[in-house]
Amino acid sequence: MTRISSMILLTGALSGLFGLGNVIAAEAVKGSAKYEKLEQCVEPTSVMRRNHFEFIKHQRNLTVHQGIRGSKYSLAGCVDCHARKDASGKYVPVNEEGQFCDECHDYVAIDLKCFECHATVPREK
Ligand code: HEC
Ligand code: HEC
Ligand code: HEC
Repeated sequence: MTRISSMILLTGALSGLFGLGNVIAAEAVKGSAKYEKLEQCVEPTSVMRRNHFEFIKHQRNLTVHQGIRGSKYSLAGCVDCHARKDASGKYVPVNEEGQFCDECHDYVAIDLKCFECHATVPREK
């Protein structure tokens, strides 16, 4: 987590520099995401770190081509567990700068197109 934490700091510093700090990462409250209260992901963390994209892509094929839904690898599930809230209790998009699905991707220069269609915040029940 150390490298990721310093990435957050760096992102925060850079966005502050460009005057964006107040509208983005700064608003998400640390500890407000479900995953931050849990011990483990849908697989061990090291496995998720290495293989999460394989799991999601496999799940997409199952759902879109075979109509199979609701596995532990659903993209909606990732968003549900990993999204943080802001101080007013509103969800912050999981792919916003500095948020969970952006931290590493920003670092490896991946820009997920998935969220052009898929919801970036949990569905309110
Ligand atoms: C039920 C809650 C839950 C769901 C659903 C979930 N996760 Fe996780 N995830 C966690 C927890 C808890 C951790 C462990 C965090 C830690 O080790 O500090 C984690 C860790 C991770 C990590 C490793 C982060 C790191 O620090 O290296 C990745 C990547 C990840 N999840 C991606 C996903 C993806 C992609 C999905 C959807 C397929 C998903 N998660 C679904 C709870 C969840
Ligand atoms: C052009 C729109 C579009 C884009 C872009 C897109 N998807 Fe989807 N995706 C869909 C639709 C529509 C479904 C079917 C939803 C359903 O039937 O539940 C779907 C279903 C899924 C599912 C199964 C449902 C779930 O929540 O798990 C996964 C996984 C998935 N997509 C992953 C991805 C990933 C990963 C990307 C990016 C690499 C991506 N999608 C990009 C439209 C899109
Ligand atoms: C611990 C760092 C880390 C976290 C956190 C993380 N990712 Fe990733 N993700 C990566 C890396 C690294 C790659 C590139 C893997 C490769 O191409 O070899 C990647 C690639 C992907 C891809 C494939 C992109 C493509 O165009 O092929 C998807 C989809 C994806 N991640 C979804 C997610 C989602 C959804 C989340 C949040 C729930 C998430 N990731 C969180 C590190 C992370």
